[in-house]
Amino acid sequence: MNTQPIGIFDSGVGGTSIWKEIYKLLPSEATIYLADSKYAPYGEKTQKEILQLSIKNTDYLLSRGCKIIVVACNTATTNAIDYLRENYKVPFIGIEPAIKPAVLNSQTGVVGVLATRGTLASSLFTKTTALYAKDRKVIEQFGDGLVPLIEAGQIESKEVEVLLQKYLTPMVKENIDYLVLGCTHYPYLIPQLKKILPNTVTIIDSGSAVAKQTQKVLQENLLLNNSNNKAVIEFYTNKEVEVLKSLLGEYAVESKVSYLEF
Ligand code: SIN
Repeated sequence: MNTQPIGIFDSGVGGTSIWKEIYKLLPSEATIYLADSKYAPYGEKTQKEILQLSIKNTDYLLSRGCKIIVVACNTATTNAIDYLRENYKVPFIGIEPAIKPAVLNSQTGVVGVLATRGTLASSLFTKTTALYAKDRKVIEQFGDGLVPLIEAGQIESKEVEVLLQKYLTPMVKENIDYLVLGCTHYPYLIPQLKKILPNTVTIIDSGSAVAKQTQKVLQENLLLNNSNNKAVIEFYTNKEVEVLKSLLGEYAVESKVSYLEF
């Protein structure tokens, strides 16, 4: 049994959507979550910048004794995970847009993907799409402007609604039946997405698949904490604690949520 924490980082608060899935599946595991909100969004940064930020976050989590790192950010995964895996000893779990289940299950043969520029431009994304979507149409859409609004706690704002209308209307006209959320911030927009999309469109994100993969890798590396102890949960942000707390909702009550300079 291993009681070291699982380290999780994201460009900001969005990766808490992944943390929630991990917590549901592995409630005994201690977790340390870093929200690098001061430097969000990563999706508009260069690969070099994303790599430097990912190294900074990883170094902090390892200094706290984490046994595994979950890169709970699509943009950081696609731009930095190869480097991290090659240069650190702990296992890394990344987030890939759930293209495969969407294209395999699509009846209309048309699938939409909403993600950041940094993710859609990456070679990992292009390779995954080429591999699984051969005879399917994949409509890619940058979600410009959405991450800063989520980071500012404006999920239910008119601005979000206007951007989503603009991004989704062309996909709906093309008859998508799956919308893949390629950014860990976007699951927080599902209620707004549902207001715009016809109910024939299935929305999929990577949260539960990432949690299962984390469990599998911990198991394979004999790193699971099988105790029934209550987990110690820590969240840190280098920006606004209140935004993080509001997304965590009831989970904030049982966790330590603090500001940290990093
Ligand atoms: C961003 O920081 O631009 C979004 C993070 C993500 O891709 O999940």
